[in-house]
Amino acid sequence: MKFEDIARLPLTTLPTAFYGMPNLSKELAKDNFYFPDIYIKRDDVMELAHGGNKTRKLEYVFASALESGADCVITMGGIQSNHVRQTVSAAAKLDMQSHVILNCPVPEMEAELLSSGNYLLDVIMGAHVYLVDGDDDQCIEKMNLVKEELISNGKTPYSVPMGASDGIGSLGYMLCAQELIAQWKQRGLTPSHIFVGTGSCGTHAGLLMGLRYFGNTTTKVVGISVSQPEEIKKENVREVLQQIRDVIDLSDTVISEDDIIVNGDYFGKAYAYPTEEANAAIKLVAEKEGILLDPVYTGKAMAGMLDMIRSGKLEFPKDIVFLHTGGAPALHPYSKEFLK
Ligand SMILES: Cc1ncc(COP(=O)(O)O)c(C=O)c1O
Repeated sequence: MKFEDIARLPLTTLPTAFYGMPNLSKELAKDNFYFPDIYIKRDDVMELAHGGNKTRKLEYVFASALESGADCVITMGGIQSNHVRQTVSAAAKLDMQSHVILNCPVPEMEAELLSSGNYLLDVIMGAHVYLVDGDDDQCIEKMNLVKEELISNGKTPYSVPMGASDGIGSLGYMLCAQELIAQWKQRGLTPSHIFVGTGSCGTHAGLLMGLRYFGNTTTKVVGISVSQPEEIKKENVREVLQQIRDVIDLSDTVISEDDIIVNGDYFGKAYAYPTEEANAAIKLVAEKEGILLDPVYTGKAMAGMLDMIRSGKLEFPKDIVFLHTGGAPALHPYSKEFLK
């Protein structure tokens, strides 16, 4: 099947905005001879309860769920999962029940994580919440139990994998790549690099596959890992690229090994633990551009991008794009990081 033939259920208005960050670009150029212009793709501004990158993935996932006859969805993530919040919002919009399995990735912050931000929004939107004190495997186990229970109660559940990062969900980022290519063409831009926070890897893999599929052979997709070392994430990106190939015909689309770029230097102690560098990046972008990033994904991704530019780690930088994947609702449980 071709990309264009896969069913998509619109959940937001596309394309999202794309524009320059002149104040941030000027700030970077202050003490240095040459710096590239920075641009931003605003995938944080969408219609599913504050939006974010999962909305694009869910357009394909929910089309598939409805095709399969599902009347409710199950998914999982951390207590402050943006993916879960957008899945709950999509389900509410489609008048379906959502069942969500949540765990606490930062036990020291349990009280804050359980009283505001995405968790609060899940509850307000009517999600059926199951808290698990355990790891991803235990959450998957719980997901399977909830699924069996729903089936035995006569429901038809559809399981959405963590981060919707399978071959179907990642198609959302192929569509984003198509949008970006059109937006760059309109402005006469040929960006050398696009930065993205890389978690479950569907955004990174879909974007890379989409750029190459729609004819861009030069822009490098740089994933800043938000949770694990470079080699593990690269392997995950390769796996998702293969899952996309399992869904659609991409026999003419070449992705070389050099195309898979991940930097694992910026996630700090672990997933969801804040870092000083990410906090500083959040403050800088907020003060210079009035744009809100988050401590778990986009703050770390921005910190990585700024450091790689400043320290001359990028080859031939020219017009650099930051993909804003959302997440600002999680600023609230992390308020202590900024009010100290
Ligand atoms: C705000 C935000 N940015 C980036 C990501 C990472 O995207 P992916 O899981 O597709 O790698 C996520 C995933 O949850 C997210 O919520």
